[in-house]
Amino acid sequence: MQQMADKFMRVVSGMRPTGDLHLGHYHGVLKNWIKLQDEYECFFFVADWHALTTHYDDVSSLKQNTFNMVVDWLASGIDPEKSTIFIQSKIREHAELHTLLSMITPLSWLERVPTYKDQQEKLSNKDLSTYGFLGYPLLQSADILVYQAGMVPVGEDQVAHVELTREIARRFNYLYGREPGFEQKAEAAARKMGKKNAKSYNRLKTEFQQQGNHEALDEATSLIASQANITEADKELLLGFIEGKGKTILPEARALLAEAAKMPGLDGQKMSKSYNNTIALRDDPIEVENKIRTMPTDPARIRRTDPGDPDKCPVWQYHTVYSDHNIKNTVRKGCKSAAIGCVDCKRYIIDAVLKELDIIQTRAEVFIKDPDKVYAIIETGCNRAKIQAQQTMQQIRQVMGLS
Ligand code: TRP
Ligand code: SF4
Repeated sequence: MQQMADKFMRVVSGMRPTGDLHLGHYHGVLKNWIKLQDEYECFFFVADWHALTTHYDDVSSLKQNTFNMVVDWLASGIDPEKSTIFIQSKIREHAELHTLLSMITPLSWLERVPTYKDQQEKLSNKDLSTYGFLGYPLLQSADILVYQAGMVPVGEDQVAHVELTREIARRFNYLYGREPGFEQKAEAAARKMGKKNAKSYNRLKTEFQQQGNHEALDEATSLIASQANITEADKELLLGFIEGKGKTILPEARALLAEAAKMPGLDGQKMSKSYNNTIALRDDPIEVENKIRTMPTDPARIRRTDPGDPDKCPVWQYHTVYSDHNIKNTVRKGCKSAAIGCVDCKRYIIDAVLKELDIIQTRAEVFIKDPDKVYAIIETGCNRAKIQAQQTMQQIRQVMGLS
């Protein structure tokens, strides 16, 4: 049943255009997106407004980064026939929903999102005491909710943002997610149970809704069930009313964590531009070869004749990503017995990475030479996204008294 429902679920994810994409993005995120686009309706967008939350003081490369990012997605295998590719700032509905959601979002919910304080401390050279930065996760919620998404593929660091999105959706549905007249109908149904029962029902409802008392909910459920002279429809209405349910406008999306086939950086830490340990998707082959050749290895393996331990070597991590069973075997044995040198060991990786990048770079070349093709893909994607976003906003404006 769940499986069947999943088939119709929409996937939404975004990436901030803050610089060149690297192999960490490719193995950690893009390969997952590529898999998802065969199974679900996917919306992938460049989160340029999100880039501004931290890079508002230098917008000079935003446009170029956005273009490059889309090219890298396409070159990696995101297929515009299968996925909807677009730019966040072109769909103003995200901003409208952000504003509307800001009305119902307690400040404390935003202040306690872990990335808020973490990032402020990590990027202490920047002034991030802005309104926009505090609202970062709420804007992300709007990105997700405006497409009524069911699944959001993200990294570990973004799970808290998806969790916030669920809370916001729940609050929104509680406040506005009812059919018109729902309350009046429920109150009329309560009166049909007789004065005494109606009074108990209202007391239990308050206890459940204000204190989250589940015993009150159970008691109310049996009270409703025991009524002989009201219809099934009324019973359902009464139960829905007490649970704060109504027609759900905003579904609660869940985070999809990519299986951690993560690609570490050249030094074995997480691959990240700020650690200066990346292989970019557009790096020149000669540069790539150089970067891998100078990678650190097991520090105990000083001379060629010293045996090494692959588990203490970042190069081995790359073998787990790139090498087949046979090569992995040869490398492990050869390293431990000093039968192979680090130069030989790295050769496998150099060849594998260059082969992978060659495919990506060849595809990228086509788009770089023909930017109009990229613009057309973006335009088509924006149009498709806009239709969905407008549909959601129409419903939202209506229930919020803005139609
Ligand atoms: N905050 C995300 C990141 O830094 C990017 C993002 C923005 C996003 N909006 C989104 C991801 C909506 C998923 C869904 O990686
Ligand atoms: Fe690392 Fe390979 Fe050298 Fe062993 S042989 S230390 S795994 S580079």
